[in-house]
Amino acid sequence: MKKIAILASGSGSNFEAIVKAQRRNAFNALVTLLICDKEGAFCRTRARRLRVKDIFIDPKNYPSRESFDAAVGKILKAEKIDLVVLAGYMRILSPAFIRAFRNKVINIHPAILPAFKGGKAIKDAFGYGVKLTGVTVHFVDEQVDHGPIILQGAVAIKRGMTIEKLEAAVHKLEHKLYPEAIKLILADKVRIKGRNVQIK
Ligand code: GRF
Repeated sequence: MKKIAILASGSGSNFEAIVKAQRRNAFNALVTLLICDKEGAFCRTRARRLRVKDIFIDPKNYPSRESFDAAVGKILKAEKIDLVVLAGYMRILSPAFIRAFRNKVINIHPAILPAFKGGKAIKDAFGYGVKLTGVTVHFVDEQVDHGPIILQGAVAIKRGMTIEKLEAAVHKLEHKLYPEAIKLILADKVRIKGRNVQIK
């Protein structure tokens, strides 16, 4: 059985949605591990409630991003992880980590990339006044919010919609799209051809 690790820094709603999808047999793999870089993050509470192994790695104990990532990589190798899923992980991965886990790390971004990269994508899209935004699941490469796109979904910003309603709609779509993308990867239906992803 393939093994998935989730890396998160915050609330962990995507982490929980993925664990629940796995337990509904939405895909054929086990979420065996949560790695978190924030001691008090709510994703760790969710991990305890869901009985998923949770490891906190304190960035304060590492002099550089590279040494922190090396510690994460060591755990992922020791735990024989097949797929690394970033879910609100607020760290930029070092090139050495990307190389070591090439095409094995995926991320979710709350906008239709390449629009609205960065940490406040939903707010930025709302503020810009776009009528359509959404969610992107992509492989992670050396650049931030970049890399071959696996799935995208759209959310319409309707007249009178508040930012809170938009956030809720984006997150709802994330919780559906991320397990779908994981399912496709695990079923070996995803092929990367240069920048493009072909889905069988
Ligand atoms: C999500 O909106 C995700 O797209 C972004 O960070 C947020 C994480 O939310 N990368 P949660 O911690 O999964 O609730």
